Amino acid sequence: MPKPGAIVGILPIVAECRATAQGLARRLGAKLIDSSPTEGLYLACGIEGLSLRLRTVRRRELAIRAELGGGRQAYRAGHASPRGEAIARACGLPRYGSRYVVDATAGLGRDAHILARLGARVTLLERSPVILALLEDGFDRASRQTQSLDWLARMRLIGGDATVWLRSCATVQRPEVVFLDPMYPRQTKGAAPGKEMQILQALLGTADDAGSLLQAARAAASDRVVVKRPRQAEPLAGESPHYRIIGRSTRFDVYLHSCE
Ligand SMILES: C[S@@+](CC[C@H](N)C(=O)[O-])C[C@H]1O[C@@H](n2cnc3c(N)ncnc32)[C@H](O)[C@@H]1O
Repeated sequence: MPKPGAIVGILPIVAECRATAQGLARRLGAKLIDSSPTEGLYLACGIEGLSLRLRTVRRRELAIRAELGGGRQAYRAGHASPRGEAIARACGLPRYGSRYVVDATAGLGRDAHILARLGARVTLLERSPVILALLEDGFDRASRQTQSLDWLARMRLIGGDATVWLRSCATVQRPEVVFLDPMYPRQTKGAAPGKEMQILQALLGTADDAGSLLQAARAAASDRVVVKRPRQAEPLAGESPHYRIIGRSTRFDVYLHSCE
């Protein structure tokens, strides 16, 4: 389980953000800082929202934030179609239309956003308190937009460990689909990971408990589990899927409940 202590602190970029930064610092058990650290991860709280930043030893700075309401991600999600998006086909959206999907590894919410835009009702689960804070900030900014966001009303965010949540959800309402996108294995050769993956790996490391998550997901989903993997990677926990949808760099492995 990642520790919120992995961040050096929380920096209010402007005076107006100090109270928000203080509240967040209390919640995460982190300290408030007055300037960006020379090295390491920190949260920056500014007018444009909350971002997670990584200062590298070479003093480069990388930053990520959850963008649901604007930017490239929102543009892509806004122009997505159920047949055009491999993730939507893998989740069965073109065939079944609206579905109840649990995104058990929410991250920055991009996959969940696409699914919600295409009509799915999506519960997002995220166990890292730092990533959860970024997501809440993304939701908050999106909800303050003027245009109607029917897709946002279809998204529900829950903090906590998905393995635990999935094991208990059968008593409430079983999701038709559980979607998993655990941290990719660390690359040992080839291209360096992108900025987002560098930051996520610095905060969270790579998944070593994805096998138990897959097991809980397969027990919870009434129709299927969809696992996002790098195109060339081994199947998660060595479990072969029933079929695969292969994209340029990503693959979606589909485990059907009815075939078990
Ligand atoms: C690669 S990221 C997911 C990216 C996401 N699909 C997106 O579109 O932004 C993986 C995320 O899953 C979360 N995660 C991994 N295992 C989890 C678990 N058992 N319960 C909840 N969250 C988990 C990690 O904290 C991390 O934020």
